[in-house]
Amino acid sequence: MTVHQLKKKLTSLLGQDNVLASREDLLCYAYDATKRVHVPEIVVFPGSVQEVSGIFRIASQARTPVVPRGAGSGMTGGALALQGGIVLAMNRFDQILEIDEDNLVAVVQPAVITGRLQRVVQEKGLFYPPDPASLDFSTLGGNIAENSGGLRAVKYGVTKDYVLGLEVVLPSGEVIQTGSKCVKDVVGYNLTQLLVGSEGTLGVVTRAILKLLPLPEAKQTLSAVFPDIHGAGRTVSEIIRRKVIPATIEFLDKNALWCVEHYLQLGLPESAGAFLLIEVDGDPAILEKEIRQVQSICEANQALKIEVAQDEKDQERLWKARRSVSASMAHYGAFKKINEDVVVPRASIPEFIKNVQEISRRFDVPVINFGHAGDGNIHVNVLVMKPEDEPRCHEAVEEIFARTVELGGRISGEHGIGVSKRDYIAKNLEPGVLELMKAIKKSFDPHNILNPNKMFP
Ligand code: MLT
Ligand code: ZN
Repeated sequence: MTVHQLKKKLTSLLGQDNVLASREDLLCYAYDATKRVHVPEIVVFPGSVQEVSGIFRIASQARTPVVPRGAGSGMTGGALALQGGIVLAMNRFDQILEIDEDNLVAVVQPAVITGRLQRVVQEKGLFYPPDPASLDFSTLGGNIAENSGGLRAVKYGVTKDYVLGLEVVLPSGEVIQTGSKCVKDVVGYNLTQLLVGSEGTLGVVTRAILKLLPLPEAKQTLSAVFPDIHGAGRTVSEIIRRKVIPATIEFLDKNALWCVEHYLQLGLPESAGAFLLIEVDGDPAILEKEIRQVQSICEANQALKIEVAQDEKDQERLWKARRSVSASMAHYGAFKKINEDVVVPRASIPEFIKNVQEISRRFDVPVINFGHAGDGNIHVNVLVMKPEDEPRCHEAVEEIFARTVELGGRISGEHGIGVSKRDYIAKNLEPGVLELMKAIKKSFDPHNILNPNKMFP
């Protein structure tokens, strides 16, 4: 089928306004947060599950690739049309369909922005915990596809822990329902959890049933500055060992602090080598005790400066340093950054950081580390200062992956595999497991039309 014939069929299904094919329109759907560019041939905006199904029937017949897209904020290329074809833009699926306060669930469409659901349920005293740093612009559908984590994962887990059921359109055009509103459900294979984190390669989510929690009554936030990363690392281990589980334990290394300080001028001590942001939430009476315990652990590990937020404005100011890391890295003046999201067992963080520092020196490439210290998920940003350094930087990344695996870690904790890491997937998965995964892909998508060439080398 020619692109012209395909466009004609899609236009008669969706109407002219919901099909784009001009070069300037297509360019707007050719990128994501990886900054790679792959221009699709057609972009479509379905408005109902029947239309999504119809698009797949047409694409199946034409053997044309279909790439689902939410906000386009993914960090590993999941929404890129590597082989052209159709981009399935889910923007019109933006309704919160139900907040069921009796069963503590929300039923949503996939293009709802994560932060919007959080604000809506908060007004009812409820809580949707997954909070990727992108929560103000990424969508629930994208979060489900990538099984997004975030800053509260240490206590509350990640997206998969809140998905009870899905409505999904398969590459054949068939519409299936998985799971239910029931908290307990062991009927058959757990297809819901197979689809969560499948990076848009098995089916397209058109509706999701999400678990909610009661909103924690209060929270307390503390920041601590340390002379080096080791004091910060020991503090994290000690907090966990004492069985205090904060909602958030985030860290910034010396380079990340330098970037944030140049960006925001927060007045961090000159000798600062690491920064921790810790938040506890729950019953106010217990919180007082917990935050004092955290404070004394920081003191025992030679923190240079500790600040406990006195009110919400203070809390917001402390969070600003952490939230600004990605943006502030521009101050380093790099030509490009390679942003990894490796995860190691949390007790191994100090050793892992030591290894990364050694690799950074040996390959002579600047590295900025920050991330989710409470769950061992570190954003290792390898900075490519000039184009000719790029091969050396990729060698450094290979070594970082090797150290990660040696420490019992995984090459991705939250951004997924997509196209960025597909050549490295075998570092974590043995051949038999990879073959089983490819067989699963084939049984969902025998003609390989849904998001082809992602995840597997
Ligand atoms: C974060 O934790 O800030 C995000 O995963 C994004 C990033 O790595 O820049
Ligand atoms: Zn992150």
